[in-house]
Amino acid sequence: MGILINNGNVVFSDTIKNVDIYIEKEKIKIIERFINPALLPPNTELIDASGLYVFPGFIDAHTHYGLGEEGNKTADGFFEGSRAAAFGGVTTFIDFADQISGKTLQEGAVKRIHEAEEATIDFTLHQCIYNMHDQISLELDSLKSFGVGVVKLFMTYKEFGCYLDPDYWSSLFPLCCEKKILVTLHAEADELISKINIKFKDRKLSAEMHPVLRPSEAESLAILRAGKAAAQFSLPLYIVHLSSKAGMDVIRKLRNEGVKLYVETTPHYLLLTDSKLKGKDGCNFIMTPPLRKATDNRELRSALVSGEIGIVATDHCSYTPEYKSSFADCREIPAGIPGSEEMSSLIYSSLVAEGSMEMIQMGHILSGNPAKVFGLYPEKGSLKPGTDADIVVFSPEANGTFSKKNIHSNADYTAYEGLNFTGSPLITILRGNVIFRNGKFTGKRGGGRFIRSGESSLYRY
Ligand code: URP
Ligand code: ZN
Ligand code: ZN
Repeated sequence: MGILINNGNVVFSDTIKNVDIYIEKEKIKIIERFINPALLPPNTELIDASGLYVFPGFIDAHTHYGLGEEGNKTADGFFEGSRAAAFGGVTTFIDFADQISGKTLQEGAVKRIHEAEEATIDFTLHQCIYNMHDQISLELDSLKSFGVGVVKLFMTYKEFGCYLDPDYWSSLFPLCCEKKILVTLHAEADELISKINIKFKDRKLSAEMHPVLRPSEAESLAILRAGKAAAQFSLPLYIVHLSSKAGMDVIRKLRNEGVKLYVETTPHYLLLTDSKLKGKDGCNFIMTPPLRKATDNRELRSALVSGEIGIVATDHCSYTPEYKSSFADCREIPAGIPGSEEMSSLIYSSLVAEGSMEMIQMGHILSGNPAKVFGLYPEKGSLKPGTDADIVVFSPEANGTFSKKNIHSNADYTAYEGLNFTGSPLITILRGNVIFRNGKFTGKRGGGRFIRSGESSLYRY
């Protein structure tokens, strides 16, 4: 059955137009000022989008659904996390595949795709690299042909075995550059974090101490080091979850020197401060990097509006308050917060409704840019005939208050409890199927597909 979306304000990459969209068999078939329903097949469903905005499906470009082993698994598996995302207008998420010892990179990706089989929306993967070895070049070739064209490196998390020694960059960066594989980076300098930790070795530390243990300088130092190394090979580098003004300042400095850096931030670094870490609920706000100050929020918001930051993603990584609070020391509390569902309403409320950002730019940061940067465009991230009919019908007037009572993550809390919002998705369509409407999830367990990524736009300029 086809769908006709009628009379919506359609948010294209360069303009907003009042046009109709006809969807048939998973794809956008026609976009015209007026499509006569009488000329469409008789069982076509009509969606009246008068007064509403129509976006390409949002992309949450940084998630951790179904993370961890039994006993310390995230509250949201792939089904729950992606269902929460669908409520927020997200039709594609990007998660991470581990590098598994003794297995190839591709085997790691295949395992993760199996783990994601209950996803309700489409997804792609970034492949983590924790170890270098002689076969890595061949493995990267097969990984890319398989459909994963992005790798993720960590400059911290030695304790979890994720840290890749920067000494390996000089062999890995040229390979990635030559193969046009995008390198993404969790930038926090482990040396500095370890040095600070030694001082507090024998003390139990509350959540409030987390930013002291992982200061902004750890982020700026790491970016500086990685940016300089990437520049030697003209490698574009993607910095995930930028949290601080210090980090942004270094990015500006490196860009002035010609270093190609692309930046992602999250709603929590735009809107929440370290004051959340005080008191008994402080543990619910432990994530890495930690929450910073209001000055950092402001700087990141202004960098986002100016286009210096190109993508907002959530880093959705959900643990229940019950689980988080079972650890007495902030270094042991599992890090991460949920957020895929809240993302689009937070961006609309705090930036668009408030007058700092145009609707078109909201479409870029939540859809067009991640699609281009991660090689999913134009199938994802655009509204063009012939591409996937991933569509969000968004009401600028719908409003409410975030509360754990009306949020769908299994985490049993929202980091934005009590915050009023304006603007919310009313309908989410994944490849021509309505998966969220009138406050109800109408999608399917396993309705999502793995999407192969093509070449990143960062290799095209
Ligand atoms: O606290 C966070 N961000 N948890 C997820 C892992 C990561 O570093 O992104
Ligand atoms: Zn990270
Ligand atoms: Zn993450």
